[in-house]
Amino acid sequence: MSGPTVIASPRDERFWADARAELEGLPHGGGLNIAHEAVDRHRADADATAIVAIDRQGRRTTLTYAELRRATNRFANLLESLGARASDTMFVLLPRRPELHVCVLGAMKARLVVSPLFPAFGPEPIRQRMALGHGRVLVTTASLYERRVAPIRASLTHLERVLVIREHDEELPAGTIDLSAALSRSSDRYEIAATRPSDPALLHFTSGTTGTPKGALHVHEAVVAHHSTATTVFGLQSGDVFWCTADPGWVTGMSYGVLAPLTVGATLVVDEADLDADRWYGILEREHVNVLYTAPTALRMLRKAGGDVASSHDLGALRTIASVGEPLDPATLAWATSTFRVPVLDTWWQTETGGIMIANRAGVEVRPGSMGTPLPGIEVAVLDSDDRGVPRQHDGHPVAAAVGETGQLALRAGWPSMFRAYLGEPERYARCFADGWYLTGDLARLDADGYVWFVGRCDDVIKSAGHLIGPNEVESVLLQHADVAEAGVIGVPDPVAGEIVKAFVVLRAGAPGGERTTRSILAHARRQLGAAIAPREIVITTTIPKTKSGKILRRLLRARELGLPEGDLSTLEPEV
Ligand code: PRX
Repeated sequence: MSGPTVIASPRDERFWADARAELEGLPHGGGLNIAHEAVDRHRADADATAIVAIDRQGRRTTLTYAELRRATNRFANLLESLGARASDTMFVLLPRRPELHVCVLGAMKARLVVSPLFPAFGPEPIRQRMALGHGRVLVTTASLYERRVAPIRASLTHLERVLVIREHDEELPAGTIDLSAALSRSSDRYEIAATRPSDPALLHFTSGTTGTPKGALHVHEAVVAHHSTATTVFGLQSGDVFWCTADPGWVTGMSYGVLAPLTVGATLVVDEADLDADRWYGILEREHVNVLYTAPTALRMLRKAGGDVASSHDLGALRTIASVGEPLDPATLAWATSTFRVPVLDTWWQTETGGIMIANRAGVEVRPGSMGTPLPGIEVAVLDSDDRGVPRQHDGHPVAAAVGETGQLALRAGWPSMFRAYLGEPERYARCFADGWYLTGDLARLDADGYVWFVGRCDDVIKSAGHLIGPNEVESVLLQHADVAEAGVIGVPDPVAGEIVKAFVVLRAGAPGGERTTRSILAHARRQLGAAIAPREIVITTTIPKTKSGKILRRLLRARELGLPEGDLSTLEPEV
């Protein structure tokens, strides 16, 4: 990179080699496997608790590292006995329960590629992702199967085996295998075959602006970053109790709700229920949680419940709170810091980065509103960019922006948990890189001390309660409704969820209109997309603003909605 280079953290060449050396590796030079580092290598502390699980009714179960090892061995053996092979893709559609951890880690032992699905997804997002990922195996519950998968099963041409958990002694759905019966017939001894650090391990879907979800592929070497960030960001050690509240259907819940804390021998808290302030405080207190990793939305909801709820609990074990996924606004940061009296640390990363890249850390000054500084081993630059975040070329190369200037946030390619492909889309993957820099799609600023300040996304993706939603994904489902002629979807600010999804629809001629139609479209969207992705509000309108090439002008929709100046329309022309 030439020109006025401003780099937050020069790369430490030795850092990742040293971080790799902290891990054990497979016996006899057999390579590196995430499940070995997360489970099998804890032989000396095999009786320590790996997972504390709390179900919806509040019942508590635990699993030691030795039990986790045996259970994952059984699952790996089961997969092999069913004919599953290394690099086959296994989808997981499960509630937050330890069975999920067992299936994910067992599949990694058998070297399958694991792809988690958010359990609130409706049939359409499931179908899309399983079709793109060529899912061969699916693990789910009998009731999720009946409601979400059975209606689309015929279209899932790659799907060979469906393993189901029967929660209430329901009948086994046709064409599925009873997981617990099959596991009981499998051996609890298993030896992980040689695994290359570059072998694929995880497939995470993330929404792009173009509608179809992108499948970001991660490899076993990612465990080097998981382990390293567990110690550098959270200061985690064996025996610590760590609670990541994110669902493993998203990358945060997988990297930090399953993998990273286990690699250091910590105890994971896994709560099946959704956010409820009383319940959360009860768990923090009873389980002696040392580190809580959550989202700003969740902290805002705790704030709504009032500080006195917090003070009625003994949270003496709590050492750190960290957040991710959306800006941690200074007001929430100040509230959480004074309420919990522990460091509250914003962290930044993405599905594509696989692990935390930029963070505040205990012992380092927190600047409210900033995401912190790059982690050791991570080199960051803010590139001189146009107002849509496209880096400007100087003699054919991108250059860094001046201190304080907004530009696209970029990371020097090559950290261990970097995604290695967008499934089936090599050109899209290649477009994410320029001159050895990975372009994040986020806009940011650097200050003179190397703190990174988040500005926004370069594109239109909606961020609601920590979920990234592609507008087209929603629009295409709205357009399936018989009364809808056109649809445009934007995110509008919301004090709790950050943004909520709002849809504008133009009705077909002759459609009845009115309250009943709106309700019917909303119900359709909820059925197809699930409540987390469906619009909260639908407005019936007469036109949707579009570019000449027919692309929806979401920025204009947003500007009108928020009463902002509509700006120069020529800058709103999308790339052709
Ligand atoms: O725009 C950034 C935002 O979330 C995006 C990544 O979303 P996803 O791939 O779903 O991964 C979620 C969690 C790792 C980023 O491109 N984002 C993430 N962390 C922050 C953030 N925005 C502001 N502040 C953060 N700390």
